[in-house]
Amino acid sequence: MQIFDVVIVGAGIAGLNTALNIPKDKKVLILCKENSWDCNTFYAQGGISVPVDEEDIELHIKDTLLAGAGLCDEDAVRVLCSEGMDAVKSLMDRGLEFDKDNEGNLLYTKEAAHSRNRILHAGGDATGRVVHLFLMQNNPHPLMYKTTVVDILKKDDRVYGVRVFHKGKFKNIYCKNLVLASGGIGSLYEFHTNSRTISADIQGLALECGCELRDMEMTQFHPTVFVNTDKARKQLLSESLRGEGAYVVNEKGERFLFDYDERGELSPRDIVSRAIFDYKQKHKGERVYLSFENFEKSFFKKRFPTIYYNLKDLGFNLPEERVPISPAFHYAMGGIKCDLDTKVANFRNLFVVGEVASTRVHGANRLASNSLLEGIVFSIRAAKAISRNDTDFSHIEFEDKNEPLFKEGDKEKKNELRKIMWDDVGIIRSREKLKSALHKVDMFIQEDIGKLLRLRLRVSKEIIKSALNRKESLGAHYIKE
Ligand code: SIN
Repeated sequence: MQIFDVVIVGAGIAGLNTALNIPKDKKVLILCKENSWDCNTFYAQGGISVPVDEEDIELHIKDTLLAGAGLCDEDAVRVLCSEGMDAVKSLMDRGLEFDKDNEGNLLYTKEAAHSRNRILHAGGDATGRVVHLFLMQNNPHPLMYKTTVVDILKKDDRVYGVRVFHKGKFKNIYCKNLVLASGGIGSLYEFHTNSRTISADIQGLALECGCELRDMEMTQFHPTVFVNTDKARKQLLSESLRGEGAYVVNEKGERFLFDYDERGELSPRDIVSRAIFDYKQKHKGERVYLSFENFEKSFFKKRFPTIYYNLKDLGFNLPEERVPISPAFHYAMGGIKCDLDTKVANFRNLFVVGEVASTRVHGANRLASNSLLEGIVFSIRAAKAISRNDTDFSHIEFEDKNEPLFKEGDKEKKNELRKIMWDDVGIIRSREKLKSALHKVDMFIQEDIGKLLRLRLRVSKEIIKSALNRKESLGAHYIKE
């Protein structure tokens, strides 16, 4: 029987950088639900926020804490910002290139709620894709593709591996340490910016095996998304566009965000999202746009090539034409509770990194571009914690449980769930709508459904319950009576 030293679930920045920091002679396997690029890292546009110099560390901490609206764990934020420069440098030392000016100086851009320019970017607006490709090219360990994790093998305080569905068959994969780096929950919502593979199943499995999910009501909505496409993943229009001069305007071309917050386009993203949502509700039928009137064409094409060409494919001529926007679900601040070494409480050998984890580094509202930084800082910590972990493994037999993953009618229910989450557990919530959502989700759970839908429903239920338990608005959780 094959026993891996480490199995990593997920091949985004958190999973791949964990792998990169585990010595080559260790037996590591990375599991990937579909193709390697089917992860949120690949689609990240804006960049990686990082203190520009030692003096900027305290300011980056302050900005992160302010955006987090009092729910951050300050120690986690200190880890993020004080270890961030070294973590980014370690990738640059291995050859990762960020965008530079003609003199070879790193270019830092600005995004909402950062008090200075500190966002590194690569390939213009293709930061995630460039970083992901780099990590794939430098990854020393094997990847297993098209592999759905369907169970965590666990007994008492130990995990023994995972059960997977691969090439039409179920099988167990055993390991001494398990790292969950599978991303967030995007597909629970009707409108989202996430990769199609991001569907909360790992959070559901963690819940079923006794892990605590924390702050699940803290769901972040990105304010500027083009949602009128038939793709599940909607087209993100990066924060850095507003950071560099794009305006949010109404049909008459008026910038109305100042009516909501004096920082206008540069207000934190929860404020901008709510403002756009509220404006649309108050002006029924009116569209809201992102306008690029300040940009010169050749600069725009070079600085934002992904957005330029994606929107060209959708029929827009940028920067001349403005694009209708709406907020859409973007990021889960909550996740599986872990400590600052990424270890999950009550387990000896279970680790979580990236969006699936909750260190409380983002509190109630994540500061723009802190997520890629979180991925690289905490993955280094995970690799170190694993190297310190005792590695004995005594095999135990697990009963082969092959619960059907899908059942007839699941797809329709899944789509209905997405609508419920968008309509009733979205940008502006009310107790009444949350209670109605809870009731509908409870009804679905009792039906004859497949395991993957049950996991989605269980995580949705956690989000709704957490939202009901939090009586007042905080950060991304906004409740109106
Ligand atoms: C963006 O480019 O707007 C996304 C950045 C982020 O989610 O932090």
